[in-house]
Amino acid sequence: MEKTQRTATLSFDGKVLELPMLSPTVGPDVIDIRKLYAEGDVFTYDPGFTSTASCNSDITFIDGGKGQLLYRGYPIDQLAGKSHYLEVCYLLLYGELPSGDELDEFESRVTNHTMVHEQMHNFFRGFRRDAHPMATMVGVVGAMSAFYHDSTDINDPLQREIASIRLIAKMPTIAAMAFKYSIGQPFVYPRNDLDYASNFLRMCYAVPAEEYEVNPILSRAMDRIFTLHADHEQNASTATVRLAGSSGANPFACIAAGIACLWGPAHGGANEAALDMLREIGTVDRIPEFIARAKDRDDPFRLMGFGHRVYKNFDPRAKVMKESADEVLDLLGIHNNPTLQVAKELEKIALEDEYFVSKKLYPNVDFYSGIILDAMGFPTSMFTPIFALSRTVGWIAQWKEMIGDPTQKIGRPRQLYVGAAARDYVDVEAR
Ligand code: CMC
Repeated sequence: MEKTQRTATLSFDGKVLELPMLSPTVGPDVIDIRKLYAEGDVFTYDPGFTSTASCNSDITFIDGGKGQLLYRGYPIDQLAGKSHYLEVCYLLLYGELPSGDELDEFESRVTNHTMVHEQMHNFFRGFRRDAHPMATMVGVVGAMSAFYHDSTDINDPLQREIASIRLIAKMPTIAAMAFKYSIGQPFVYPRNDLDYASNFLRMCYAVPAEEYEVNPILSRAMDRIFTLHADHEQNASTATVRLAGSSGANPFACIAAGIACLWGPAHGGANEAALDMLREIGTVDRIPEFIARAKDRDDPFRLMGFGHRVYKNFDPRAKVMKESADEVLDLLGIHNNPTLQVAKELEKIALEDEYFVSKKLYPNVDFYSGIILDAMGFPTSMFTPIFALSRTVGWIAQWKEMIGDPTQKIGRPRQLYVGAAARDYVDVEAR
């Protein structure tokens, strides 16, 4: 028997509209309002898209209440514990975990694309040394469209695939180059015999003057940071990539748009802002002052690294990241560093404080990732570029999904116009 279509009834101004209801695999039902304007001559109003599903997606799912994050159905803690970043990339891009052969083939494709066009070295040199690495990343990734224009035709599946592999492969090289450039050291070429995370660490920390050995615990922690940040359904930067891509823009331009959006302190920039905040607090005795500021409605200050639009429970990525932070700090023998003491005490106080408890503000992934990256020796300005390189695969998977979705149109929100109604121009002498 055919299933009857469930509908939601909307009545206003004497009109009654039956709107179809769509059911996801998991998560809340969705009211399909695509015909609302045509049939009801009204729009919906939803600043920040807090209640709006903008697409179908089968890549990532978050249950904010449970604190659950699934990539293609697999829980993030299982992937962070048992898998590794390139396998997760395959899963996000192609929908299933790869067989051994498929994984080898994918890894070899990625590693064969790790070098950047030699002329890009000159392009980097055009930036000021003191530029923020995110500024450099936005520029260089956007400029990939100029260096790799043989993979910018979005209508050609092969070109889309090559662009995807190029982006995943070159992003660590570009992020490491942005770092090296900012500290005045020579660029280090990638080494394809190393795994993805070790190669990145080497490109960041090796110098031509001496050998550099990657510590496996650090490389594992780096790989986890990549895995935990790989995708996060329709967050601001992903929605930006989709919106940019909806016009038919090339993938490099779209990912550059995503990087620009990620940079903001409410999004990917929070890891940098969180560590800056911990340093600003400085000592444990100053925590109450900052907690009071965070609660004060007249003060714009927020506790960076706390709260999330979707998670109203512990961020599952933060749980894994916290374990990783303990491992890395143990390995590096960091126990009494003042920033860490402030972080631990702040976490404890915030988790017990009525304001944070009642608003369900838990530490998020950025609270702990900054602590690990700081311990590894990265300046705070590199935290968000590392987030960007990790998220690249998610952006690409979502961008590819959008290109292949026949229901997608150019993204074009409506507005609630509150400006002047039509009026006649007045000559300057008469104003
Ligand atoms: N410190 C103090 N109060 C907060 C915080 C915070 N970090 N976050 C939210 N609130 C309060 C906020 O003032 C509001 O209170 P009220 O209802 O009394 O007006 C309430 O909690 C709800 O906040 P909201 O701004 O409506 O929530 P949102 O979903 O729009 O914002 C957020 C989510 C992540 C932007 C916000 O929690 C925030 O600014 N956090 C700090 C920045 C941060 O750590 N961002 C990283 C997010 S995780 C990584 C990523 O995905 O990019």
